[in-house]
Amino acid sequence: MLLSIETSCDETAVAVFSLDKLTQDFIPEPLYQAVYSQTKTHQPYGGVVPEIASREHSIKLPLMINDAFTSLGATPKDIKAVAVTFAPGLKGCLLVGLSFAKAFCLSRNIPLIPINHLEGHLYAGFVGKDLQNSFMSLIASGGHTEIVFVNGFRKYRVLCKTRDDAAGEAFDKVASILTLPYPGGPALSKLAEEGNPKAFSFPVGVPEDNSTFSFSGLKTAVLREVQKIGADITEEIRANLAASAEHAIVEALITKSKRCLKKNPAKHFVLTGGVAANRLLRQRFNDELDCDVIIPSHSLCTDNATMIGAVGLLEYFSKKETYQNWSSTQHSEFLGPNAPYQLGAEARLSLEKMSAS
Ligand code: KG4
Ligand code: ZN
Repeated sequence: MLLSIETSCDETAVAVFSLDKLTQDFIPEPLYQAVYSQTKTHQPYGGVVPEIASREHSIKLPLMINDAFTSLGATPKDIKAVAVTFAPGLKGCLLVGLSFAKAFCLSRNIPLIPINHLEGHLYAGFVGKDLQNSFMSLIASGGHTEIVFVNGFRKYRVLCKTRDDAAGEAFDKVASILTLPYPGGPALSKLAEEGNPKAFSFPVGVPEDNSTFSFSGLKTAVLREVQKIGADITEEIRANLAASAEHAIVEALITKSKRCLKKNPAKHFVLTGGVAANRLLRQRFNDELDCDVIIPSHSLCTDNATMIGAVGLLEYFSKKETYQNWSSTQHSEFLGPNAPYQLGAEARLSLEKMSAS
């Protein structure tokens, strides 16, 4: 079995996959998956507190792995490789998962497979489905917003990325201005259902530049409107502000995705990351994109270890001989073909750095 671990932000997550029957056309499907969300812990602070998040990971992670073993009737001996998120994310949080994985792999003499959190989001689109070799994807989450062209495993080309805030961050900041509870994205989207998206005109930055998004101006524009309206703000106006802000974010995401698709035709488009849970965004991608649109289920869009395990399986399969014949002597230099012994957590790391040699 392969164990996968995700602790990059405020979700502690584990999954287990079978390594049996890993043939050319395998479909990534977990035997076990669990996510513990720390949302309630961070709610009073209005955002994730890194120190608290990492402490909670270190308490929950071993318990969750124990639960996985109990539920599967498995023991640590059944695990033949560990895939773990090592970047990008909150360093202290990443270190909990990475250190656990290193210790586990060293003690059991098995390989460690380091995964970039963003490639997890990319492959979330193929959990339980046929894998595609080539596809385009928009990853829109609380920390990232980028359009990526994938042309084979670990052959990533970033076509468009944000120069400031991420799309999820924009949702969260506007929600906070409208005094909605954390996490803001879902709350803002719910309020927007009651409002008129054309009530306010909120342009979202750099429309002419195809390689960047910019969302930081939106929160200032919303704040100005709220200050202008002052005490006269009604529920209807709040809903109109929410709907107009949501419309502006979605419009930017869809316009740039269409342009990238036009320049780099792809048969499949994966819409992923926490923001892909947004109802309007899902609907517009399905209606307006001229290709096969793949949108993972809600639980696969937000952070989870299943997507990390799916990438782990692909990496394991790509170097099957090496991984299957892993020998303890290799530990003097490596934890895995891509995992040098001194591998550390990285707060930032471009997808392109994961590119296969
Ligand atoms: O991928 P994710 O779970 O964590 C990160 O890696 O960031 O994404 C979380 C982000 C948050 O900013 C949250 O507000 C946003 O996704 N989000 C939404 C919705 N559900 C979650 N944004 C808009 N509409 C939603 N329904
Ligand atoms: Zn994420």
